[in-house]
Amino acid sequence: MIVLCLKELWLECQNCNKCPLSKTRKNVVFGGGNLRSKIMFIGEGPGKEEDIQGRPFVGKAGQLLNKMLEAIGLNREDVYIANIVKCRPPNNRPPLQNEIEACIPYLRNQVAIIRPKIIVCLGATAAKAIIDKDFKITAMRGQWTERKGVKIIATYHPAALLRDPEKKKPAWEDFKEIKAQLDKLEDKNEG
Ligand code: URA
Ligand code: SF4
Repeated sequence: MIVLCLKELWLECQNCNKCPLSKTRKNVVFGGGNLRSKIMFIGEGPGKEEDIQGRPFVGKAGQLLNKMLEAIGLNREDVYIANIVKCRPPNNRPPLQNEIEACIPYLRNQVAIIRPKIIVCLGATAAKAIIDKDFKITAMRGQWTERKGVKIIATYHPAALLRDPEKKKPAWEDFKEIKAQLDKLEDKNEG
């Protein structure tokens, strides 16, 4: 896939039927936000509300994500958000390996075009697809790795925080860490 710009990539996604999720989706959820953002958040895949609206993280998990962003001084207009798969898996099941493999080239292109300095994987599905196939979210969240000058970290998916409030404290620690890393980037730009 040779893609020159985000608009071209968006159009390719809208017409995509590379995996079976194309048969059950209402809308392709390409992702969105600030195209010049230094930070990109990557979720698992669209849920019910995202599928209806065609936008990422607009349901309950999205509302919690908005609150967490606000708590570190960011809002949705400051960041870019996408998902591992762009079409909703039926009944919100995790995406299957063949679906992830079919879809992830789009995300790679998106990252190549937006060129974030920080990537935050939200939950195990994103962490496994992006960081390490054997990623263990509970043991390995909150740790930075770096690839081609991009800092990458994983934290719990906001939907996991809704199911298990005990995870909120460690997730908040991760968000503070992310904020600190962002502030470092700003300092570099000023200095
Ligand atoms: N959960 C995700 O992983 N992505 C969304 O866009 C919404 C909910
Ligand atoms: Fe295409 Fe990705 Fe949707 Fe599958 S999930 S149909 S690969 S856009």
